[in-house]
Amino acid sequence: MAIQWFPGHMHKAGKEIKKLLPEIDVVIEILDARIPYSSQNPLLMEFAAHKPSIKVMNKCDLSDPLIIKQWQEHLEKNENIKTIALSAKHPETVKKILELCHHMIPNKGDHQFITAMIMGIPNVGKSTIINILANRIVAKTGNEPAVTKGQQRIKISEEITFFDTPGMLWPRIGHENWALRLALTGAIKETAMTHEDIAFYLIGYLMKRYPETLKQRFEINQLAEDEYSILEQIGAKRGCIKARKLLDLHKVSSIVVHEYRSGKLGGLCLELPDEVEQEKLQAIEIEEKREIKRAARKKRRSKK
Ligand code: G4P
Repeated sequence: MAIQWFPGHMHKAGKEIKKLLPEIDVVIEILDARIPYSSQNPLLMEFAAHKPSIKVMNKCDLSDPLIIKQWQEHLEKNENIKTIALSAKHPETVKKILELCHHMIPNKGDHQFITAMIMGIPNVGKSTIINILANRIVAKTGNEPAVTKGQQRIKISEEITFFDTPGMLWPRIGHENWALRLALTGAIKETAMTHEDIAFYLIGYLMKRYPETLKQRFEINQLAEDEYSILEQIGAKRGCIKARKLLDLHKVSSIVVHEYRSGKLGGLCLELPDEVEQEKLQAIEIEEKREIKRAARKKRRSKK
């Protein structure tokens, strides 16, 4: 499953960001604490690698505190990066972002503005955070063609100004699991992947990392051995068995996905730093194989 999602206006946004960077003191990237890697924007890593950066792990209320800690340590191995874990559901924690800006850029006192670029892929909670920090409702920048607003300047306080930029998604999602996790948390639109696909992925991950959560939430004494059979167990509990004892796969998948998204399964983090390192290697291998196939096709065509 290779999701290509990079409309022309995102290319434009990328160019604008590059142009803006010299004016920027600090880059604030909002991440989804359930998927701290998959919700990062690799273009930002490329463009802004040398800028002081704050990675805000938002939606901590939906994630796993122990794994968030691992991610914070992992990300802060890069000396330009500081992290902060919070939930925009608790506005007082959001204000700490500004303290961290001052801490990272201490020599900008005496009425000199700190200029921060704030970024985040769709649905990570960027607008919620901006509204809390600005103490007002600020119009959304455009992640979708229907929302036309491009980047905007927002005065947050006498000392800090934000450049809000559209939340670009990945130019190409390199590993299937990253795409599945983005779909599970709602960053990729429902239409890109079916509930069945993402429910299978979620059940597989929970079997491996959070089996007790699965058992408790769905009142299962002994988990079956594969994803489909577990969905059957859940389906039996949640009225998703049709005539002739057939599972209504769509219905049970939707239940599982909605319950996950709304936090009913508790705080879960869907990726670990070590797992992501493995996936990065796999993604490189996949890309190399694709490249070999592409080259072979080109050669065949040129021979004709
Ligand atoms: P975006 O600008 O990055 O696209 O995201 P936005 O702020 O619009 O937030 C997307 C959804 O995530 C909103 O829910 C918002 O309330 C929710 N959200 C933001 N931060 C947090 C958080 O820390 N924890 C939890 N649990 N949810 C958070 P929505 O259902 O789309 O809208 P609404 O009905 O809440 O307004």
